[in-house]
Formats: sequence, C-alpha cells, structure tokens
Amino acid sequence: MSGISAPEIRITPSILNADRSNLSSEIGRIADVSDFIHLDVMDNIFVPNFTFDFDAASKIIRECPIPVDAHLMVAQVDEIAISYAQAGAASVTIHVESASDIRSTCLGIRAAGARAALALKPATRIDDYQEYLDVVDMFLIMTVEPGFGGQSFIEEMLPKIAQTKRIIGDRPIWLQVDGGISLETIERAAEAGADTFVAGSAVFKADDPAEMVRALRSRVISTR
Ligand code: DX5
Ligand code: ZN
Repeated sequence: MSGISAPEIRITPSILNADRSNLSSEIGRIADVSDFIHLDVMDNIFVPNFTFDFDAASKIIRECPIPVDAHLMVAQVDEIAISYAQAGAASVTIHVESASDIRSTCLGIRAAGARAALALKPATRIDDYQEYLDVVDMFLIMTVEPGFGGQSFIEEMLPKIAQTKRIIGDRPIWLQVDGGISLETIERAAEAGADTFVAGSAVFKADDPAEMVRALRSRVISTR
C-alpha cells in the first residue's frame, strides 16, 4: 500500500444462505477476502427458524479457516454464549432481548477469550444499553427482523446506527449492521457509522462471492 492505511472496516459474510450441505467449500470461496465468517445460530424459539445446534456450530467454528463471528439468536442466551466463546468463536453476539445478565455474560465471553457483542432488534432502543459500554466490544444494530436472510434493509435503522456511533464516540467498539446489506445499501450504513458489515444473500447469491466481498469493501472505502 502507498503509505495510506486502509480504514478499519470488516466484511463478515453470513453462511445462512450458503449451501449448507457443502459448507467448507462455500466458506473456502470467500475465506481469503473476508475478515470473519458470520455464523447465525437460531433455536426456533427466540426466532421462528432453526439453523445449528451447539455441536454442529462448534464443528463449524473448529474447522473454519478464518475467525468466526457467532450471532446467537437463541432464548436464554447467557450460559450458552460463554460455551461459544470456549468453543473458539472469535466474537460472540448476544441479543439484549434474550440475556438476563448482560454484564456478567459479556464478562464471561471475554474471560473465555472472545470479543463480546450486543445485538439489538429493530424495535429495541440503544439508549437503555449505554451502561454496558465498558464490557462490550461490538454493537450489532439489526437492519432486518432477525430470523431469515434475504429481507430488505430497514432504512429507518439509519438514525439508530448514527446514534449508536455517537454513543460509542472514540471508544474501540465496533459497530456492525446485519440484514439486507448489499451494494445498494452498504454505503448508507457506512455513512451512518457502521464499520463491520454482515452480508448473506448478497455474497452467496452472487456469481462470484469473493468478487462481491471485494466490491462491498470498496464501496465502504469510497465513503471514507
Ligand atoms: C438474519 C441474520 C443475518 C442474515 C443476513 O437474522 O442474522 O445474518 O444471514 O442475510 P442477508 O444479508 O441476506 O439479509
Ligand atoms: Zn446474523
């Protein structure tokens, strides 16, 4: 590079809509150009969809050639979140709507060696969670209702992303968006302050998923 450092941004493809019967080759297609693999864990209770149980998810984490960002959409998340950190996830995201002791769960995730992240569903306000700034490594602002890939980006989340960015200030806390991120929407999310981008169908429905990851990254860099 020419002495100008790239802005700190991360692209984390979600394998939710990848070919799950062939996951290792699907991950192989984008591993070199991605920062993390985003692993959506759904229990059919917290959200009306099921993806992986803990054993299946742990196997993916173990075998994944790049760090895994585990997004837990499960009921009563506190205890299992720490197990995900112990299983080797690099980052573990819990939903504030599911956790009963956010502070101690975040601390437990960190103690097990992972980054601790807090996710907010679209209707959940960020205002009530400022007290956790000291135990959180990333906020995830959901830009769709959690549960399914392929939904449209909810534009009304842009002010919430911007508000979260203001709350974070210059703390080293990442700001992730998840849901409907594509070449059409990623710039607006970036301009609002997001720096970590989950993309599921945009990547895995593309003819060339690696090229799509590169294109998404360039779009964000063009906003900086
Ligand atoms: C939805 C999941 C997302 C999903 C995103 O609940 O959390 O990670 O895979 O998929 P797209 O990018 O297709 O909206
Ligand atoms: Zn997700």
